[in-house]
Amino acid sequence: MTDVEALKKEAGIAACKYVSSGMKVGLGTGSTVKYTVLELGRMIAEENLEIVGVPTSLATEELALQVGIPLVKLSEIDGLDIVIDGADEYDPNFQLIKGGGAALLREKIVAQESKAMIVVADDRKRVSALGAFPLPIEITPFAHQSTIRALGRVLDCRVNCRMAGDNPVITDNGNMIADAHCGPTLHQPKETEQRILNIAGVVQVGLFNDMCDVVVLAGSNGVETFVNPNGRIP
Ligand code: A5P
Repeated sequence: MTDVEALKKEAGIAACKYVSSGMKVGLGTGSTVKYTVLELGRMIAEENLEIVGVPTSLATEELALQVGIPLVKLSEIDGLDIVIDGADEYDPNFQLIKGGGAALLREKIVAQESKAMIVVADDRKRVSALGAFPLPIEITPFAHQSTIRALGRVLDCRVNCRMAGDNPVITDNGNMIADAHCGPTLHQPKETEQRILNIAGVVQVGLFNDMCDVVVLAGSNGVETFVNPNGRIP
């Protein structure tokens, strides 16, 4: 296991301290929260943890079922107690960029329906300003090149259609992903989010503003927990 992989594992497992029996838990997507899902499966099997989960992607759904986490549909329950998810970047105000794994739409719906959001990350994800990581934006396949051009005009930066070889990446929702190369310039992420959402053809943007309550971060000093002073977890 590489150093980075070990850090992801540490953070992913440490975040399970926020989960207790009886909870409805949003299960994020990515290579860090994968370790959370595996650990929750272990806790169900070995420690009698009783939870239900809502996955944020088909990949997480498959993993959760493999490790024995009972799943429910978000539409059939009245919200979630908590979601644990990864992030591509987080800034000093706990605003996030997500969507590097193309799951941002389901992730944002699940986060919106959760009473608290725990982010698991390694310390490469901490930034002073968002945007060095290309900002993922889910867009409709219809006229996607026009939407990409509109995004480029609004953001004044290069915007690419995310590809898998010769074909556009298709999300779990049948849409495409545009990646905006803004650079570390997103000092007003709420305003940027609204400007992007105003463009017809945009389904959702991977700016998660005022959603994250806690970051569980693994770095060379071990696992540290950073609590958002304006968040919902004391
Ligand atoms: C999935 O679409 C993303 O939002 C991930 O949660 C994010 O990219 C973090 O993934 P890693 O933990 O794999 O870096």
